Amino acid sequence: MNAYTEPCTGPGERAAGTGSPGAGPLQGTGRPEAAIAERSEPDRLGPFTAGQLGRLCDLVGIDAQRRTAHQRVLTDLLGPAADRPLTDPPASPSFVSDDHTPVEFSLTFPADGPPLLRVLVEPGCAAPALPDNARAAWAAVGRLGAQWGYRLDELTRVNDLFLPPAPHGPLTLWSALELRPSGPPGLKVYLNPGSRGAERSMETVGEAMTRLGHGRAYESVRSYLHPRFPERAGLMFFALDVGPWAEPRVKVYVAHRHATAADAADAARLVPGASPERVAELCRRIGGDEPFGRLPLISCYSFTDTAADRPTGHSLYVPVRAYVRDDRAARDHAVELLQHHGIHNAPLDRALAALTTRRLNTGVGLIPYLSLVQAGRQAPRITVYLSPEAYRVFPPRKDAGPGSPAGDRRAADHIS
Ligand code: TRP
Repeated sequence: MNAYTEPCTGPGERAAGTGSPGAGPLQGTGRPEAAIAERSEPDRLGPFTAGQLGRLCDLVGIDAQRRTAHQRVLTDLLGPAADRPLTDPPASPSFVSDDHTPVEFSLTFPADGPPLLRVLVEPGCAAPALPDNARAAWAAVGRLGAQWGYRLDELTRVNDLFLPPAPHGPLTLWSALELRPSGPPGLKVYLNPGSRGAERSMETVGEAMTRLGHGRAYESVRSYLHPRFPERAGLMFFALDVGPWAEPRVKVYVAHRHATAADAADAARLVPGASPERVAELCRRIGGDEPFGRLPLISCYSFTDTAADRPTGHSLYVPVRAYVRDDRAARDHAVELLQHHGIHNAPLDRALAALTTRRLNTGVGLIPYLSLVQAGRQAPRITVYLSPEAYRVFPPRKDAGPGSPAGDRRAADHIS
């Protein structure tokens, strides 16, 4: 289980894998036996998530040929887990999603231009034991690197730190693909700072940053963490961009425990050019001024320039799912945030419909996080994270906190 989060809701309310458009029985075949056979065939993790990915590809303008290639990569990354029926429990308790689906999608909305689609996968998820999980994940990244001609130099310089023979959880290695309309995907790798024990995570990340030449810029983050670690701040992920990125980033994710909007704003002050006010405003919109006690706010510091003495970018992640009653409220927050940043007509509703046919107010967690990226002089970017809900839909919260735009209205609805 995750060192920084607790489960936010109770058990789910529906059978696995019933929420996907197109997941139902074949219609109009004229052969009832065929329809029955189709209906009794359980959905499997690979086709279920690849179907969602395909519909999201359509949405962002990725052509059919490339869509098929992306779907194949996702299925390959899932390995033996792809064939598992969704009626079976997940092969391992993946921490990628709350319901242990080892996949998460995200859509980034730049101020100009079409949204960018990404998918995060746990390639070792079929292995219940962490050493096997690590081996499978490492092999999967090696295969992708070889296939696309990506060098894994940075990764090989730190892999002994993050992939020891007996790794600690909750993850070993995850990979994310940025799916572009042309060319092979951008590849990112996520590693566990607590791989050698959570208590050694400061040391592990410090050493990795030094090896990669970012020791000086990381010093500001280290000084921020030092007085707060581990009660108020912990290290969550260490991430690397792999392959031919225009500006490859090394990223350090910090979970702020019981932080307020003002605390999150302070965490953004380490990054020149990031506006703390913007960070505070986003937090307040969702959770008001109370400490974020259910799930932590998260900062991600990115490093691109080894000559810099500060991180070059800051992202704030708000675990919106823990602070709203249901996904209708989470969606309303996302839309308000996009509009606030001048991004109109965002195809967010179509993306949600590409994932599930359920009504948004019947569950929570379809939108796990909303994030705000601020880097250099680029306009801020908003990212909406999307859960496949392959195994479970969490029921609406009974104790939604303040800050839900629909909260008051909904309370009134219940009374009338
Ligand atoms: N599911 C985990 C969590 O909620 C890990 C995770 C998935 C995550 N996507 C994320 C963490 C995006 C931060 C941002 O913490």
